[in-house]
Amino acid sequence: MPMLIDTVDDPDARAACAHHSNHPDALIEVLHWLQASAGHISDAAIATIADALNLSRAEVLGVVSFYHDFRRQPGARHTFKLCRAEACQAAGAEAVAAAIEDQLEALSTTDHPPEFELKSVYCLGNCALGPAAMLDERPLGRLTAERALAALTRLDSRTGGKE
Ligand code: FES
Repeated sequence: MPMLIDTVDDPDARAACAHHSNHPDALIEVLHWLQASAGHISDAAIATIADALNLSRAEVLGVVSFYHDFRRQPGARHTFKLCRAEACQAAGAEAVAAAIEDQLEALSTTDHPPEFELKSVYCLGNCALGPAAMLDERPLGRLTAERALAALTRLDSRTGGKE
């Protein structure tokens, strides 16, 4: 098995590439698999993927940085994706965002990665149920500030999920 000599070889990235026969067209699939399993795409993974798929590191990094779902650092345990597009804004998404931001600031600690993060997205395809959001993989609709905060509290490991 070839190994990189100028950086740390990422065995998971190498295995993911091998699973796709080291074909360059499998770059997105490899990145999605790594993102799901490791939570981020490390420097070592980028170098390993470039080597295995016979791409330049710049090509791999370009794809990683283009798509918002790929992270370069470990992310929060839970992600609250709040839709801030027009239909959800009209239904009150900004009030929900303000309440979540206040709550996350109140909960902020030096934990790294943090427990929660708020990400703005622009249309989840659930406009009729706006304000809409995704809390990890769970869709939420007709959000109010109170319902959003209750959903966060249920997932907060520091409170044991008690509201
Ligand atoms: S505008 Fe928010 S889900 Fe479409």
